[in-house]
Amino acid sequence: MPNFEELKSEIAKRFDEADSLEALNDLRIEYLGKKGKIADLMKQMKSVPKEEKREFGQAVNQIKTETSALFDEKKRALEAKALEEKLASETIDLTLPGRKPAHGNLNPLTLIEQELEDLFIGLGYQVIEGDEVVDDLYCFERANIPKDHPARDMQDSLYLDPEHLLRTHTTAIQMKVLEQDAPNPIKVVCPGKVYRRDDDDATHSHQFMQMEGLVIGEHVPLSDLKGTLEFFARKMFGEEREIRFRPSFFPFTEPSVEVDVSCHMCGGKGCPTCKGTGWIEILGAGEVNPKVLEMAGYDSTKMNGFAFGIGIERVAMLKYGIDDIRHFYTNDQRFNELFDRMD
Ligand code: DAH
Repeated sequence: MPNFEELKSEIAKRFDEADSLEALNDLRIEYLGKKGKIADLMKQMKSVPKEEKREFGQAVNQIKTETSALFDEKKRALEAKALEEKLASETIDLTLPGRKPAHGNLNPLTLIEQELEDLFIGLGYQVIEGDEVVDDLYCFERANIPKDHPARDMQDSLYLDPEHLLRTHTTAIQMKVLEQDAPNPIKVVCPGKVYRRDDDDATHSHQFMQMEGLVIGEHVPLSDLKGTLEFFARKMFGEEREIRFRPSFFPFTEPSVEVDVSCHMCGGKGCPTCKGTGWIEILGAGEVNPKVLEMAGYDSTKMNGFAFGIGIERVAMLKYGIDDIRHFYTNDQRFNELFDRMD
């Protein structure tokens, strides 16, 4: 007969000493496993004399039951201890300040575009976008830009094939809208990206943004253009701003004007921003050329109107005092955060 009492106390001691769930599991395998010590005892049954078999069997069974109970008890204790330690390490300090989730910011060009759209929607304009790849027809031909004009040169514009190019100005959208809406009245602004074959530097970019404006109706006075642009200048650059028209030339407008705004930095006295003149050139505009109207399907003796083209980068650079156009496109989060403050 093995010494069952000795075995029991050995088991009790070993289980008592187990200090982790892994160690406890090792003990379970060592004693209760299929090839464990208790299973070995069971196997010895064969060689036990017949009259002792009963006593032997009961003793082994008892050890097995007790060891299982010991195992369960110790397992619960170790699990409870592990949970307690986990909870202690996860204690929440409610007095700590909250963590701010990181968020992106809108690019200042998007902000200006949205501000301009709101401004013109408030004046009853519709916002229309167009394709960035356009036919030569809408970019140039319909805009009354002759075949020998430098803009039509491969050196200046990004052609995809002889008939298609990346639009060089949002005036291409204007020409499409005119054709689609003729002979009806129109009041739209058309924002979007435009492309030119330019070397990038502080003031040039091969891709930039414009917003085209177009109003067509019966007897639209040129003073409406002046009033509209004055409203735009005051909303964007301050209530005291004045505007002035200077004669200019664009093939799609007749007469054409270049529009200056009184300098918002010095109030018109003269400073580096306005190069000492008190005025800043801000956009091109004019009365839509009757030839353009006729090509699109309007009767230019009955309908007329005006158009303007705003450079979105130019407005943003002037408004925010940005000195390099490349800042808009490098996606430096520190730059974007300066304009779109959400916190
Ligand atoms: N398309 C001109 C450009 O890209 C801008 C422009 C000037 C648009 C006068 C107009 C306009 O609609 O009337 O430089």
